[in-house]
Amino acid sequence: MTKRVAILISGGGSNMVSLVEDMTGDHPARPVLVMSNRADAGGLEKAKARGIATAVVDHRPFGSDRPAFEDALNRVLDQAHPDIICLAGFMRVLTEGFVMRWQGKMLNIHPSLLPKYKGLHTHQRAIDAGDAEAGCSVHEVTAELDGGQVLGQAQVPILRGDTSDDLAARVLVKEHKLYPLVLRRFAAGIRERIDLP
Ligand code: GRF
Repeated sequence: MTKRVAILISGGGSNMVSLVEDMTGDHPARPVLVMSNRADAGGLEKAKARGIATAVVDHRPFGSDRPAFEDALNRVLDQAHPDIICLAGFMRVLTEGFVMRWQGKMLNIHPSLLPKYKGLHTHQRAIDAGDAEAGCSVHEVTAELDGGQVLGQAQVPILRGDTSDDLAARVLVKEHKLYPLVLRRFAAGIRERIDLP
């Protein structure tokens, strides 16, 4: 049975595009929805251009009432019936209630070599620490922010004089390879970790 995938974004959606463009042919899943908490997210137009249903649930009217915001997300998700949810640059922290509802069905891509540098500003923190390598991780989403089981990772070198933007661009290239690969395995029921060379 082909798996149904919903992708949640907040920004440009380059990871979303790499996932969508890989879900063809013998891929065990298909995209059914791209949803954003920002109406001005550039990724929405990219999804529409690829014939995928889109939706916007603006978080701002809900203020600090995260459960109410998430109820609104779930109302849209319930209509799409996803088997898998991919967070792809979705910049809202989800509550335990939402995460438990989708436990074992939700993935996220994070721009660091988890468990290092959970949270924000990952590239600058790796540079400031004098690390030789950085990278990205795809993990299952749990109630602990960026804390779930890592299903895939890819590394890049940190070069002398790198700015965080330089590093972000180098890591993003790997993200676009890693996330589709992990989703394809996850949709086929494979949970063993894979590390990209
Ligand atoms: C990516 O670097 C991702 O790792 C992070 O947010 C960025 C989103 O980029 N969580 P895009 O919207 O997929 O281009």
